[in-house]
Amino acid sequence: MKKTFLIAMGSGDPEPWVKSFETLLPEFSIAKLGDDFERESVAYAMTWYHPPGSLADFKSLKAIFSLGAGVDHLFRDPLLPSVPTARVVDPDLTKRMTEYVILHALSILRQTRRYRNQQNQKVWLDDDHQPAAGDVRIGIMGMGVLGQDAAEKLSLIGFDVAGWNRSPKSISGIKLFSGHEELPHLLARTDILIVLLPLTPETRGIINAKLLKGLARDGRVKAPSLINAGRGGLQKENEILSCLDGGTLHEAVLDVFETEPLPVSSPLWLHPRVTITPHNASVSDPMAISKMIAEQVRRSERGEPLLYQLDQSRGY
Ligand code: NAP
Ligand code: GLV
Repeated sequence: MKKTFLIAMGSGDPEPWVKSFETLLPEFSIAKLGDDFERESVAYAMTWYHPPGSLADFKSLKAIFSLGAGVDHLFRDPLLPSVPTARVVDPDLTKRMTEYVILHALSILRQTRRYRNQQNQKVWLDDDHQPAAGDVRIGIMGMGVLGQDAAEKLSLIGFDVAGWNRSPKSISGIKLFSGHEELPHLLARTDILIVLLPLTPETRGIINAKLLKGLARDGRVKAPSLINAGRGGLQKENEILSCLDGGTLHEAVLDVFETEPLPVSSPLWLHPRVTITPHNASVSDPMAISKMIAEQVRRSERGEPLLYQLDQSRGY
């Protein structure tokens, strides 16, 4: 019986993935949830928000792949099979995220929002001090694959960058903090906070008023700003709004939300100092990411362990 590679997507369009895997894995039948396939033939599954329970009882399943870097969607499924499970780590996805954070960090530094508003009103006004990038301190919560690449490129531009992890680490040229005890030190030296954490029980709701009030108040910027491209569950949106209105926060750039799509009723949509993007800071491009996953399948078929396996106990 030919082995099946199953695409289990509860969100997004599976067709480009089907096409790509048909080319890359010709020795497998490529099936989507809902197609007619032999359950015993399923050897691998790639998922993105699959319906909970839909991967249970595949007796020949050898491995599961998350279509994205984040794996919190897998933990929604109490019946997730206990097989090696890997996430996306790929230069294409990393570069896209770095583009996003550089774009928005520079936009905050160079006050793009203010000058756009002035242009709309035909106002020529340059009354503000323009800080240099080197005078602006960036703090990155989550110095994993994405955080590290962003930190390196933001440093090259000249920003003064530091980061925060769960476990102690060292990266040349970047000041790193770790653990709950050291988080206040990162916040106290941060003018632009960038969040690239995974969503876990420990990180849920971490971007709240208490945290935002710990950001630097002594900087060259009027008030600190926030960029969250990690997960919406990391943030308390009501508290972000009150921090914006109360002067604790100058600007918020949000790619991810507590509820997605962001409900039309959310006051975030029309807030004058909020930028909203529809959870596409870094999309998984089917052409690039299917190549990476097909290579993982080949590793597994050769009897080699998968790369980038998630650690169930850490939750990421
Ligand atoms: P990663 O390599 O696993 O890095 C995660 C980082 O977060 C690590 O530095 C880890 O610390 C840190 N961390 C985890 N739990 C922590 C805690 N409780 N306290 C302090 N630090 C903690 O993940 P990645 O590839 O960089 O991706 C990060 C996240 O970005 C994903 O999980 C996903 O949610 C999000 N994402 C969003 C998009 C988008 O389009 N918006 C796209 C891709 C990814 P250690 O180094 O000590 O383990
Ligand atoms: C996107 O959100 C990802 O986790 O890759």
